[in-house]
Amino acid sequence: MEISTIGVVGCGIMGSGIAQISAQAGYEVFLSEINEDTLEKGISSIENSLAKLVEKGRIKPDEKLGAMSRIKGVIDINEFAVCNLIIEAATEKIDLKRSIFNDLDKICPQQTILATNTSSVSVIDVANATNRLERVLGMHFFNPVPVMKLLEVVKTVATSDDTIKTAVAFGKSVGKTVIIAKNTPAFIVNRLAVPFILSAIRMLESGVATKEDIDTGVTLGLNHPMGPLTLADFIGLDTLYYLARGAYEDTGDPIWIPPILLKDMVSAGWFGCKTGRGFYIYK
Ligand code: CAA
Repeated sequence: MEISTIGVVGCGIMGSGIAQISAQAGYEVFLSEINEDTLEKGISSIENSLAKLVEKGRIKPDEKLGAMSRIKGVIDINEFAVCNLIIEAATEKIDLKRSIFNDLDKICPQQTILATNTSSVSVIDVANATNRLERVLGMHFFNPVPVMKLLEVVKTVATSDDTIKTAVAFGKSVGKTVIIAKNTPAFIVNRLAVPFILSAIRMLESGVATKEDIDTGVTLGLNHPMGPLTLADFIGLDTLYYLARGAYEDTGDPIWIPPILLKDMVSAGWFGCKTGRGFYIYK
């Protein structure tokens, strides 16, 4: 299927990143938010990100203007009727995602592909809010989207091969390397990364080492760009907690049990970088 117009639901960190790379790759992009304020913030974050690329000489000023001209911010999701592929990047709440998918299913032609960028919700549980199970899949991008080279495509029991083929082609066209996972808890990358981060939190909790030494051990000993506690703050402790709790509920596997320290920090409202406090303090 030919893709020319993309819809992105939600212009937080992930949605604005997905909109940016799609517009840079030449797609027309509809980007939606629930109110003008949040929409404006998302669009200006894209503009700033592109301006930095111009400053560094990575793209020409014309390319920035071109990309911005291809992004149309909307509040009314009915405008998504012209999109061929819609990627939902709203808050990680299943009821919200199901309601968005149900609306999109009514608005969009039957051939439109609907994708969720979820990292913690089962894709089939979102898909079954629609009447197009074969055209619903997961397209899981990584933060920061313009920098991270990976796209994880998630296939449910009902996703058609054609839908996967189209999503893989789209991922490659926006410069990503694509891997394909079955719709299992945490897919491929988080299934490895999250238990690792949870172990680091347990290590801190039980007093094995300081947070700085745990992070330094991993950055210098394993050559990771960020230590696991810094990465936890970057991902968001709330996201991490709900992901771990969901995977534990689905599998019963104790590797997913969220450490009490993580639960308490989330209850305190310390979500990491986005709230200014997590394992570290942020200005
Ligand atoms: N948007 C665009 N570009 C960004 C950026 C952002 N938010 N943050 C950093 N960059 C760019 C910088 O401009 C810089 O570009 P140049 O090399 O062209 O100058 C480059 O990335 C490196 O940035 P810095 O020098 O400022 O800092 P750094 O070397 O520490 O890199 C980082 C920053 C890319 C975020 C790096 O620390 C990193 O890769 N961290 C790990 C990120 C990661 O693991 N992400 C996945 C999280 S899990 C997830 O997203 C999925 C999930 O389901 C939870």
